[in-house]
Amino acid sequence: MAALTRLLLVGPPGVGKGTQAKRIADSLRVPHISTGDILRDAVKRATPVGLKAKEFMDSGGLVPDEVMIGIIEERFAAGDCAKGYILDGFPRTTPQAEALERLLERLKLPIEAAIQLDCSDAVVVERITGRRSCSNKACQATYHVEFLPPKNAGKCDRCSSPLEQRTDDALDAVKKRLEKFHRETSRILPYYEARKLLLVVDGKGTPDQVFAGIRRIAGF
Ligand code: AP5
Ligand code: MG
Repeated sequence: MAALTRLLLVGPPGVGKGTQAKRIADSLRVPHISTGDILRDAVKRATPVGLKAKEFMDSGGLVPDEVMIGIIEERFAAGDCAKGYILDGFPRTTPQAEALERLLERLKLPIEAAIQLDCSDAVVVERITGRRSCSNKACQATYHVEFLPPKNAGKCDRCSSPLEQRTDDALDAVKKRLEKFHRETSRILPYYEARKLLLVVDGKGTPDQVFAGIRRIAGF
């Protein structure tokens, strides 16, 4: 089978979508499109979208669909996805999934697989609370204090910038993000199942084990 290269990752906060999306993007040489990263960049630069999104993000809520759909249309307009793409964190609601389907039909770049990373809430809470991210937005490497520690505490291995904790990784916001996932985002799973695009990968193992599972089902 030819490798699947037009992919999206779906799963609860902290399951490892960003970690795996970076590896997939490197292996397939396709763009990694993370709506969370796009929004955090907009917040840092205090753009109109960033100012609007900040409150929703900090409290663990979802940014309104019309804002998100606008962001994703603008991102695909860059025209660098002809050989594939890996979407991370979009879509998160049924209206987003429907808008994406229409957009990608128009561009003749339909999704080939929606990969669900499956993991318990207890494990993802442990992963999120130990996460540290590089403060240099051109780098954006992520670490975990226990599972993936940097060589020098508090400093990025790649660029030596200080590591920081995301503002939405406080426990209250994490609980709300998980609730949103179970109540809203999980509804897109039957959406993709009905289109025979849903593939499930066990997200519990080490990053290498999870990546091996993804490669196996996506054929690369
Ligand atoms: P977003 O940035 O997408 O956050 P999220 O979905 O909550 O997911 P995370 O980024 O927290 O986790 P991840 O799955 O990427 O895990 P990671 O690889 O970092 O969105 C943030 C916010 O933006 C949302 O809450 C919302 O407000 C808004 N937003 C974004 N998109 C939106 C949309 N479409 N609609 C509306 N609003 C939207 O891993 C986590 C940690 O675990 C790391 O420390 C990592 O090193 C470690 N780790 C990873 N894999 C493993 C493993 N296998 N074993 C052990 N440790 C591991
Ligand atoms: Mg992420």
